Parts: sequence; structure tokens; C-alpha cells
Amino acid sequence: MFYRSFYYTVDNMFQTIVNLKAYNESTGKNTEILLKTFNNSESSENIKFAVPLTKTHLGNHFKNLISQHVDPETYGPYTGHVIMEELISSGIKGSLLNHSERRVSKPIIRSTIARAEELGFKLIICSKDLEEIREVCDMGADIIAYEPTELIGGKISVATAKPHIIEQAVALCDKYKSTLLVGAGINNKKDVEISKGLGAGGILVSSGVVKSKDPFHSLNSLMI
Ligand code: G3P
Repeated sequence: MFYRSFYYTVDNMFQTIVNLKAYNESTGKNTEILLKTFNNSESSENIKFAVPLTKTHLGNHFKNLISQHVDPETYGPYTGHVIMEELISSGIKGSLLNHSERRVSKPIIRSTIARAEELGFKLIICSKDLEEIREVCDMGADIIAYEPTELIGGKISVATAKPHIIEQAVALCDKYKSTLLVGAGINNKKDVEISKGLGAGGILVSSGVVKSKDPFHSLNSLMI
């Protein structure tokens, strides 16, 4: 499956997605400052940064950027839509979709997956529970991010609060030959080790890195 070449560049390496969200620390001039800070992070091939929609043009200047959202439309009269063609022309070849803070309907997820397949664009479909993971697996999602809504932005991680769900989600994704990433509350190496040990192919992290006093150090401290 083609996602392996994008997300598993060498030896099926574990992936880290840093979602910059729309924090003061990651918007305006701070987006570029943060991305420059991260430039020298260890294992940078396996780290991707989900940038705000207003910053996707930075894909022409920084490697490993993805979008925080994308729409299924193509060129046309679509006010306020983010089309894949536009992202691709800025060097961005992937996006989050259906994040808890930017939910979309199931028909939209389905049509966005179809559009992404046509263009070779990579989607990470966020899902809040096992039921939703199953639904998006059925739609053909290659990469799914399990993020329990109530743990996002908190101090208790998905790895410590929901290990049994991660295990079940990994087993489910394996059946569909999909990859499972996990996120919410991740803020130390132990969280990452537990996630990997349970079979996750990577993590999504935001506040533990973006809002920390030393984002470079915080990101590197999550590398395993
Ligand atoms: O997309 C990642 C995100 O929702 C997790 O946020 O702040 O809990 O790491 P956070």
C-alpha cells in the first residue's frame, strides 16, 4: 500500500505528527519560528508538522509539513474550501481530517478519501472511539489517528488512560491493513513507548510540544 512509502520511510519507522493547532505559540510569525526551531530535530524524516491552513504555503520552504484539514472539492466555485491541488502545489502531500476540533460528516470523509486516492494525497483520519475507527476503516482509510476527545490538551495521555482501547484499535486496523496512530495528552517518552508497545505506528502530539517552554527539547524527548 502506498502509505508505507510515505509514513514508513525506512524500516517501518515510528512516526511523530506535531499538530501546531492555532495556539498563539504556533500562529502568526511564531509558525516559522517554531518550524525553524524544529528543523534540526532528531529523526526528522519521521516527524511531520500539521500547520494551520493559513500557513500551508510554507510547504514551499519547510519539509515534512501536512495540513490540519482538507476538503474533497477540486478547482471551482468553492469559497472557503481547501483543495488538495492547492496544497500539493505548495509541496504538501498530506492532511489530518476529522480532528475532534474540526469534525466533518461521514459522507465528507468518504468523498475526501476517494479524492485523496485519485491524487495520491495522504490522509490521517482522526477518530474518537472504536466505533468511528471501524467506520473509517470500512471507508478505506489507510492511516487512522485514535484521539479520545476528553483527553486532548490534558495531562493524562491516551497511552496511560486507554491502553486496552489502543490494543483493540490496533487489532482492528491490522485487519484492514491500516496504520493506527494515537494522540491526546502525550507528553513524555513513556507515553510514546507504551503506544509503540501496544502496536501503534506513531503518535500525534500538540500541547506537550507546542506549548512547552522548550519545544525543541520537548519534541526530541519524545523520540524513541
Ligand atoms: O492532534 C493532536 C492533538 O489533538 C493532541 O493534542 O494537546 O493533547 O497533545 P494534545
